[in-house]
Amino acid sequence: ARADETPHWRPAVRFSPERDWLNDPNGLVFFDGEYHLFGQHNPYGDQWGNMSWLHAVSTDLVRWEQLPVALEPDELGAIYSGSAVVDHHDTSGFFGGKPGLVAIYTSAGETQQQCIAHSADRGRTWTKHAGNPVIPNPGVEDFRDPKVFWHAPTGRWVLLVAAGDRIGIYGSANLREWEQLSEFGAEHGSHGGVWECPDLFELPVDGDPGRTRWVLIVSINPGGPAGGSATQYFTGDFDGTAFTSDGPADEVRWVDRGADFYAPQSFSDVSDGRRLWLGWTSNWDYAEAIPTSPWRGMMSTPRELGLVPAGDGVALVQRPVAELSAVRANRRAWRGSLADGTGAEFRGSAVDVVATFRIGTASVVGVDVFAGPGGRTRVGYDAAAGELFVDRTDAGGTRVSEKFPACHTTPLIVDEGVLDLRVVADRSCVEVFAADGRAVMTDLVFPDPGSDRIAPFAAGGRAEVEVEVFDLTP
Ligand code: FRU
Repeated sequence: ARADETPHWRPAVRFSPERDWLNDPNGLVFFDGEYHLFGQHNPYGDQWGNMSWLHAVSTDLVRWEQLPVALEPDELGAIYSGSAVVDHHDTSGFFGGKPGLVAIYTSAGETQQQCIAHSADRGRTWTKHAGNPVIPNPGVEDFRDPKVFWHAPTGRWVLLVAAGDRIGIYGSANLREWEQLSEFGAEHGSHGGVWECPDLFELPVDGDPGRTRWVLIVSINPGGPAGGSATQYFTGDFDGTAFTSDGPADEVRWVDRGADFYAPQSFSDVSDGRRLWLGWTSNWDYAEAIPTSPWRGMMSTPRELGLVPAGDGVALVQRPVAELSAVRANRRAWRGSLADGTGAEFRGSAVDVVATFRIGTASVVGVDVFAGPGGRTRVGYDAAAGELFVDRTDAGGTRVSEKFPACHTTPLIVDEGVLDLRVVADRSCVEVFAADGRAVMTDLVFPDPGSDRIAPFAAGGRAEVEVEVFDLTP
């Protein structure tokens, strides 16, 4: 393998390919003790093209082992995004009565169509189905990114696929023959760009299994709140046939208001029942200009999803998976008062920062990361504006694209002047989780290697802070 030319930007705890191009996560599934991560990959270069499925496995969601490419282009076209499931009871008939893995993906050739492949050896080798495509193109140009799950109450597989400006919902008994059940979305949400990469899952509200809502995920490009690509969500009900949204048709809700969290997909078949997902930490506005080498494209940290009551309805929350805490080391802590400036300082370029602010008379509080001679990334909360922000205008290597230097914001009202903030800053990315995962932002940054200071700050008045900093050392 070629040596890294930018080792200081190689993530410590997030997946990055050894080399070459990566975009969307695909085929996320837990099977036989392993988490599988497939992804949109060009095995022959660091630009988008020759789309294939990269493959990696992990037992702890933090340390990934990259395996040979799983699916390569064929006579039906390139292999675009899709999902994978465990066929526990061999409904497909591919596995001689045993459980096995089935991947459902888009073949992108003259048209986009849905195809399947199966693996009886824990994902190491794949056989494409002779009857592909299993869902031929119905006459829409953009027809891709199938996500499949088992719907127990109706005893069948359900598939979602992005079809132009809406999501098609299909059902099947055997993963091979599909019939369309319904569609959703032509009248709903944001249509600032093409719809891509749907997902649908049921979650308990506040962890109460007696009260659940369904969450429908749709990525769009462009039209995101920070420019370029982003992911929206709807909450509602799914009866096994159709999804109905709780909110008004024109409501638009984003899962992450940074610039760099796209095409997230949830893991299928997680044995302990958690709903986990991860996304691609990039943005189609500048993905092909990301200055890492010899790889280009990385994933987010895996996150656990939940729902909490919000207004008349519910809101999505995301928190880093518990497994991330297992690779924390070298705890440092400080508690004190901040008056218009910084207090304690720490160092680190792959860190988990946990801070609680009593905002007091300060107008802005937060934490600077990747600070030093080459600039800084400021993560903060503007109490007057009621906004969480990530400001990367002065974050070092900002010349990625003219769209890159920016301050991204998301609305957030905190209770009783207390803000809890968690910042996972991993070499070339900051992931921010505020108010117990209610406000989430992911942003790429390319600091110079000497800029590794971390400092809580307050501006415009006085605030109290308690902060812990951990190195992340897988
Ligand atoms: C999303 C996407 C998908 C498509 C894939 C191609 O980023 O455009 O819709 O399947 O990337 O690489």
